[in-house]
Amino acid sequence: MAEIQPLVAGNWKMNGTQESLGEIRAMCERAARIGARPHLMICPPATLISRVKGLVAASPIQVGAQDCHTAERGAHTGDISAEMLKDAGASAVIVGHSERRGDHGESDALVRAKALAAHRAGLIAIICIGETEGQRRYELTLPVLGRQVRASVPESATAANTIIAYEPVWAIGTGLTPTTDDVAEAHAFIRQTLAEHLGEEAAGGMRILYGGSVKPANAAELMSVANVNGALVGGASLKAEDFFGIVAAYGSA
Ligand code: PGA
Repeated sequence: MAEIQPLVAGNWKMNGTQESLGEIRAMCERAARIGARPHLMICPPATLISRVKGLVAASPIQVGAQDCHTAERGAHTGDISAEMLKDAGASAVIVGHSERRGDHGESDALVRAKALAAHRAGLIAIICIGETEGQRRYELTLPVLGRQVRASVPESATAANTIIAYEPVWAIGTGLTPTTDDVAEAHAFIRQTLAEHLGEEAAGGMRILYGGSVKPANAAELMSVANVNGALVGGASLKAEDFFGIVAAYGSA
C-alpha cells in the first residue's frame, strides 16, 4: 500500500469577501516555499471560488467548496450543483459538515446523495462525521461514527474520490480537542468500518482528516496520531500565518 499523502484543508465557512483575498496571496507565497508534503486546500465560500482559483493557479493549493445540491441543475432557488462548483474551479466539496447537519437538518441519506453528486461531477467528496457532546457523554461515539460511515459514505467511494473528516461536534470552534488516545481510537475505528463497508483497498488508502479546534499549538500532536492523514481546519484557516503554523506540523513550512 502506497503511503497516504496527508492533506491540510481550510474550511472558511461563511467568512470571506474580496478583502480576504490578500490572505490567499500570502498562502500562495508560503506554499511556494514548502515541499510536496502535505497537500493543501482552501474551501472558501462559493462566492469566492473562482477568484481564489485564479489566484492559486500557479500554486499547489487546491480549491474546495463547502456544500452542494444533489441535482445537476434545475428549479432549486439558491442552491449550487456540484457541476457548477467544478465549473467555478473547485476540485473537492465538503458534504455533511455538522453545521449543515445541524442548521439544515441534513440526514445521512442526504449527505450520501451529495457525495454521489460530487463524484458524478468529478469532485472529491470530503464527508464529515462526528459525535455530539451528548452522544460522547453516553459513550455512543463509536456507534454513531459507525452508523454515519455506513449511511453517509456511498459504497462506490474510493480512496481517490473520497476523504473522510472526523470532526467531534463538541470540538468545533470551542478550543476543546479530544485526547490523542481518543483520536487514535476513533480514526482506527473509522478505518475498520470503512474496510467492512468499502473493502480493504479503498479503506486502506483513504484519507481520514481530524477536524475541530486544530491550531498551530496542537497540530503537531494531533497530526502524529496513527490513522490521522491531515486536518480540516476552520477558524485557524482564515489567516495565512495560522494556517501555515498548522502545515508546519509536517515539518515543511
Ligand atoms: P474549527 O472548525 O477549526 O474552527 O474548530 C473546524 C471545522 O468545522 O471544519
